[in-house]
Amino acid sequence: MKSFLNVQDLGDLKQALAEAREIKQDRFKYVELGRNKTALLVFFNNSLRTRLSTQKAAQNLGMNVIVLDVNAGAWKLETERGVIMDGDKSEHLLEAIPVMSSYCDIIGIRSFAGLTDREYDYAETVYNQFVKYSGKPIFAMETATVHPLQAFADLITIEEHKQTARPKVVLTWAPHPRALPQAVPNSFAEWMNAADVDFVITHPEGYELDPAFAGNARVEYDQMKAFEGADFVYAKNWSCPGVTRPEDYGKILTDYHEMLDWTVSDRQMAVTNNARFMHCLPVRRGMIVTDEVIEAPTSLVIPEAANREISATVVLKRMLETER
Ligand code: CP
Repeated sequence: MKSFLNVQDLGDLKQALAEAREIKQDRFKYVELGRNKTALLVFFNNSLRTRLSTQKAAQNLGMNVIVLDVNAGAWKLETERGVIMDGDKSEHLLEAIPVMSSYCDIIGIRSFAGLTDREYDYAETVYNQFVKYSGKPIFAMETATVHPLQAFADLITIEEHKQTARPKVVLTWAPHPRALPQAVPNSFAEWMNAADVDFVITHPEGYELDPAFAGNARVEYDQMKAFEGADFVYAKNWSCPGVTRPEDYGKILTDYHEMLDWTVSDRQMAVTNNARFMHCLPVRRGMIVTDEVIEAPTSLVIPEAANREISATVVLKRMLETER
């Protein structure tokens, strides 16, 4: 595997889930695979889970790890070609990428959407520059439009906790005071569409996800109706994807004070099939979810975060196997 961005990059999902189970039973089974190999993790944005779980995954495989926080100690990087660099950015990504790649064997990229230029974000411009100019396998640690390590961990968690062969999984929009990217809901939708689940998306009108990710998922604008009989509820905020009105891309369409009835609370959870609550974290309590729901025994947010180590170990293992 030379690039990990979408669910198709992993090939057969059942096989990938079997590998995840194998690694969970023995995290160090493939510790020889990464001997004398180096993973470089490049962060253009903050992270807690991705940073720690991906480092741990690389160490599970015997790899050396270098972490670069671009905005803390490195030269500020220009990412667009053709600009006159007379501002505060001292180095261009087009030199920085081959330099970085000379020190490592695999590169992980975290680079959020700017939320101002839909075309630039949805072209995955920064990620694809790494693919083009590094000559190394590249994996997404949440990029402009996707967060596949999270979605893979989410799927592993659902597989571990499902009570029926084909559970009902609901992705619900929830309010937030700042505009957030669509990467997590995009990937969650993409991966649920590829999995054997009954998948429903609920959000206020105007927040329709890009069809490349939403696929044929059922969209239900009435949140209470969507929650009926749900086995898993996955909450997340996202800004306007600009599908129906491109000029609204990256915007919050209605002030969050008016949207607080979308906060996941006992009211909505009461109509589910004792649903397990999921969120990728970090989460704002009182906005996305109430204290009661996230603290309930049905909440899966901690095991879900723990499974990030497993999803990252499978992905790095695949990349190391390709490079052998
Ligand atoms: N879920 C997730 O990616 O968390 P971090 O932003 O802390 O890495």
